[in-house]
Amino acid sequence: MADLVGIYAASHGPMIVRSWDVLPPASKHTLTTAFAEVGRRINAAKPDVLIVISPDHWVNFFLDNLPSISIGVGETHDGPPEPWLNDFPHKQLAGHASLAQHITEHVFNCGFEPSVSYKLALDHGFCIPLWKAGIDPLPAIVPIIINTVEAPFPSAARCFDFGRSIAEAVNRYEGSLRVALLATGGLSHSIGEATMGQIDEAFDRECLQHFASGDRDVLLKFLERKMPLAGNGAAEVRNWAAAHGAAGARGFDLIHYSAMPEIYVGCGFAAWGVDKNINTNK
Ligand SMILES: [Fe+2]
Repeated sequence: MADLVGIYAASHGPMIVRSWDVLPPASKHTLTTAFAEVGRRINAAKPDVLIVISPDHWVNFFLDNLPSISIGVGETHDGPPEPWLNDFPHKQLAGHASLAQHITEHVFNCGFEPSVSYKLALDHGFCIPLWKAGIDPLPAIVPIIINTVEAPFPSAARCFDFGRSIAEAVNRYEGSLRVALLATGGLSHSIGEATMGQIDEAFDRECLQHFASGDRDVLLKFLERKMPLAGNGAAEVRNWAAAHGAAGARGFDLIHYSAMPEIYVGCGFAAWGVDKNINTNK
């Protein structure tokens, strides 16, 4: 049986890499510290496999073919195609086809019909958090893409339930594996629209408060009502909702939040309670 040993979330704004050299030192310190803490917790959890839930920013899919959910079931995945991520240390990332197929089969039995891909390229949504968090060694990756870039979007409740099904699948996997889950994206941000660059700090803080409260229904109603008003990038909070579902809507631990207009993103970093029992001294 596999064990779900940790659930985490981190923002992934491109400017974290593209503008790194010109960011104020205080911003670099904030981001470095927050990512390092996420990485410290993931490294302490010693996962064999890391399920990463991210958007796809028009790399694998476009308007002619835009699945709501896609699971990467390949043996390997390509590294990021963005030229400004050329220094990302992995041109290819190992997958875990067996667990990915098992998750796919289980979620189908739960009423979800994700597409599958045997060859995904993992863009900055996946790779910025993996890189900046300093996850070493990099475990096998099961990439899961939730469409949070172009409507129609899966509802927050649907994403929550999908995350719960992922956790069920992990618990029913017959191989002995330590599995962690990392959701990336959000919080509020606005890209390529009239409100470009705006951050809705009030939304972000209320959002985090609802994650921490553990009241699933209040959180999901809040997200459905307020996500569309917090910039197009806020749609990515659906990935956090999936992580929240995987964690059973409990144990939310905010690692850090900062509204960071210099990178256009309300940056959040969090862990859920399933890693509370992990001995981080080992
Ligand atoms: Fe994004």
